[in-house]
Amino acid sequence: MKPMSKHNVFAVILAGGAGTRMRGAGRPKQFLEIAGKPILVHSLERFLENEEFEAVLVPVPEEWMDYTRELLAKRGLLGGRTILLSGGSSRNETLMNAISCIGEHFSLDEDTIVVTHDSVRPLVSRRIIRENIEAAAKYGACGTAIPATDTIARSDDGAFITEIPERALLYQQQTPQSFRALLLKRAYESLGEKEKEQLTDACAIFVFGGAPVYIVQGEPSNIKVTYPSDLKVAETLLARGKIIDIAARGGR
Ligand code: CTP
Repeated sequence: MKPMSKHNVFAVILAGGAGTRMRGAGRPKQFLEIAGKPILVHSLERFLENEEFEAVLVPVPEEWMDYTRELLAKRGLLGGRTILLSGGSSRNETLMNAISCIGEHFSLDEDTIVVTHDSVRPLVSRRIIRENIEAAAKYGACGTAIPATDTIARSDDGAFITEIPERALLYQQQTPQSFRALLLKRAYESLGEKEKEQLTDACAIFVFGGAPVYIVQGEPSNIKVTYPSDLKVAETLLARGKIIDIAARGGR
């Protein structure tokens, strides 16, 4: 049964990218199979499990629409709450296409929440998804992150270290990132062209505007498939059913 909520909640599984760092794959990485299913399908299923989503939107590159339609239809994942649409030229443009689609086909108001997720993070847990919905409703914007494990160096010229920020203050961002949809839309539309190019991360748009972005604790297992070597890691974790769903850990 769908939980009672005054919010209308949508998921957006971002699959509009080309996956250029996944060399030699022949198709965008979200369509590669691991543990018997395309990565995109694993991610989509994680979200469809949650009854709170009114719809789960799947933006893909225009030229991969027919392919995806067939792929999802074959697995009984089209129709119902899954909506297929065309992505944009950047990650944020893909996200804006999805928000427009919600406005056209559903109702988009101040209480509308979008939970946005990289299609190539198939190991997202139920707990992370649930806490994203709660935090977006409460704070307006949230990102998922884990405390940085490596010491991070900043270099302004790519040759010498400019600064080594204190690791205890640093986090590695994951997804989902979740927002009140209209807050994000307005913040994005208020940016100039140069800012749009620089602020490729949706949370960064809120931070730039001085708005709070709550941190939902992620999991080290919630990896993003980026390079060929990530496929084996994701495959192993998925095959062993290693989706970590422990309660949020407080602090470090
Ligand atoms: N993405 C998107 N629309 C774009 C670009 C990216 O929906 N125009 C999505 C990707 O499909 C992916 C997620 O954003 O699920 C994270 O991006 P990334 O890992 O950088 O994916 P790609 O852009 O596809 O990879 P690459 O940078 O290697 O080309």
